[in-house]
Amino acid sequence: MSQGPRSGLAAVSSALLAMSRHLEVRDVLKTIVASARELLDAQYAALGVPDDHGGFAQFVVDGVSEEQWKAIGPLPRQHGILAAMLHQARPERLADVREDPRFEGWPAAHPDMSDFLGLPIRDGDEIIGALFLANKLRPENADTPDRKGESGCGFTEDDEELLSILAQHAAIALTNARLYERSRELTIAEERSRLAHELHDAVSQKLFSLRLTAQAAAALVDRDPSRAKGELQQVTTLAAEAADELRAAVVELRPAALDEDGLVATLRTHAQVLDRAHTARVTFASRGVRALPAAQEEALLRVAQEALHNALRHSGADHVDVTLHKRGPDTVLRVTDDGKGFDPTTVRRAGRHLGLVSMRDRAGGIGGSLTVESAPGKGTTIEMEAPGG
Ligand SMILES: Nc1ncnc2c1ncn2[C@@H]1O[C@H](COP(=O)(O)OP(=O)(O)OP(=O)(O)O)[C@@H](O)[C@H]1O
Ligand SMILES: [Mg+2]
Repeated sequence: MSQGPRSGLAAVSSALLAMSRHLEVRDVLKTIVASARELLDAQYAALGVPDDHGGFAQFVVDGVSEEQWKAIGPLPRQHGILAAMLHQARPERLADVREDPRFEGWPAAHPDMSDFLGLPIRDGDEIIGALFLANKLRPENADTPDRKGESGCGFTEDDEELLSILAQHAAIALTNARLYERSRELTIAEERSRLAHELHDAVSQKLFSLRLTAQAAAALVDRDPSRAKGELQQVTTLAAEAADELRAAVVELRPAALDEDGLVATLRTHAQVLDRAHTARVTFASRGVRALPAAQEEALLRVAQEALHNALRHSGADHVDVTLHKRGPDTVLRVTDDGKGFDPTTVRRAGRHLGLVSMRDRAGGIGGSLTVESAPGKGTTIEMEAPGG
C-alpha cells in the first residue's frame, strides 16, 4: 500500500471527519486507532487511557482479531513500555520492543511485536493517554510484518509526525468527552435539586397537613365520631392530593388546581383549608390581579405555600395574612404573620432548611425577587414580586 501525499492527506482528512461524526468516545478512539494503523502501515495499533488505579479505563486495539483478543486475557496493567509512554512526555521509536530494558514480557497469546512507535496523548501538560503502533508493514513485503532488520525501526520520523497529529485529535476527542460527561453530571445534579425542591414545596406540606388532620380525627373518634368521620374524609382527600403533587413533581407539571381555577381561587381555597386546620387565623385578599402567565402563577403559588407553611409551623402567630396585588405592571404577593419572627441572616443555607432557598429560586426563576423581612419578636413578612409584561 503506497501512498502519495495526496492520498495520505485524504486519509487523514477522512479519519478526522469520522472522528467529528462519532459522539461516543469509544467510537472516536476506535476510528483514531484504525486510521493510525492504516495510514502508517502498521500491523497493530492501540490506544490506552489510564485509570487512577494502575489499569486502563479504555484500551482500544486494531489489527487483533476478536479471538486473539480474548485469548490474550485481561487488559494490560500500566507497566513496562506502556507505563513509560504514560509517564514520559516524548515519543518513542524502537527497532525491537522486546529488547528494550523496560520490556516485561507479554501473555502467551499476545502477538509478536518488534518495531514500535509510541506517543503520549496530551492535554496541555497532562498525559491523558498513549497511542502505540507495532510492526511496520513495508510496501515491498506488505504481507509479512517486518522483523528487525538492518534498517532499525520500520517507523520513520514522518510516521511519528503523522501519528502526533492523530494523537492531538485524540486529545481533543477525549477532552470533549470528559467535558460532556461533566456537563451531563451537572444536569443530573440540577434535576435532583429541582425534584428535591418540588417535593419539599408540594408533597411534604401536604403530608404535614395530612398528619395534623389524622391527629385531629384520632382525638375526636371517641368524643365525636361523626366529626372524626369528616376529618377522615379530609385525610383521604389530602392523601389523593399528595399523590397528585408527587406525580406532578416527577413529570414537572404545575399544580392541577391552577389550571382549573387559576391562582386567585387556588390561593383562596388554600388559605381557607389552612384556616380550618390550624388555630391561627389565616386570611386571603386579592386586589386587581387577573390571570398571569402559567410560570408566574406556579411560582407565586409555591412561594405562598411555603411562606404559609413556615408561618404556621415556626412562628406561633395568631394571624397569618396573604395578599395579592398589583404594583404598576408587577404582581406582589405578601405573606405576613404576627409571630415570633427570626433573624434571616442566621438561617443556615445548607442542610435541612430548603424552604427559604427554594422560595428565592422560584422568584428568581421567573425574573422576580423575594424579600424576607423579619426580626425576633417582630413577626415576619415574605414578599415576592413577579415582573409584569
Ligand atoms: N414565619 C417564620 N417565623 C418564624 N421563623 C421562621 C419563619 N419562617 C422561617 N423561619 C425560620 O427560618 C428557618 C428556615 O426556614 P426554611 O423554610 O428555610 O426551613 P425549614 O422550614 O426549617 O425546613 P423546610 O422548609 O426545608 O422544611 C426555620 O427553621 C425557622 O427557624
Ligand atoms: Mg420551611
